[in-house]
Amino acid sequence: QATSISADRVPDMGKRQLLNLLLLGAISLPSAGMLIPYTYFFVPPGSGSSAGGTVAKDAVGNDVIAENWLKTHGPGDRTLTQGLKGDPTYLVVEKDRTLATFAINAVCTHLGCVVPWNTAEKKFICPCHGSQYNDQGRVVRGPAPLSLALAHCDIDDGKVVFVPWVETDFRTGDAPWWS
Ligand code: FES
Repeated sequence: QATSISADRVPDMGKRQLLNLLLLGAISLPSAGMLIPYTYFFVPPGSGSSAGGTVAKDAVGNDVIAENWLKTHGPGDRTLTQGLKGDPTYLVVEKDRTLATFAINAVCTHLGCVVPWNTAEKKFICPCHGSQYNDQGRVVRGPAPLSLALAHCDIDDGKVVFVPWVETDFRTGDAPWWS
């Protein structure tokens, strides 16, 4: 009998894990496909600085318009958008109410949980195993081994556009581990 109980439970566990994965991926999976046509439409190959860029999407999948975003997101704000490859990515509003030129990838470098911004602590604190990152995404407490990945955040024709960050990580002075 014990065998039949555990045999019943195993597929359930598997299903639940799969469901969790699907839920976690729900932000990123649909957008990955949707972003490809946008990339080609708004960023024709060879258009210069935003080649390879991806228009940021808000929580309901609309393009992020910088001016509108700044009307509803004040200084110090960090809010998730859909970024490069569909990764959840924080837009950063600077103290002077402009968008930072960098954006922060929210995927924890420990085991990949999406890390929420804690406004009171002014840190990103991972709910999974407690890793902490400062307000620029630099790791300040493990077990995460590395800082959160960066992306360039540009404004192109009024829209917020992410471009892969391949230069030195300005927070650490190291080469970017993610590129
Ligand atoms: Fe973030 Fe483990 S996944 S601390």
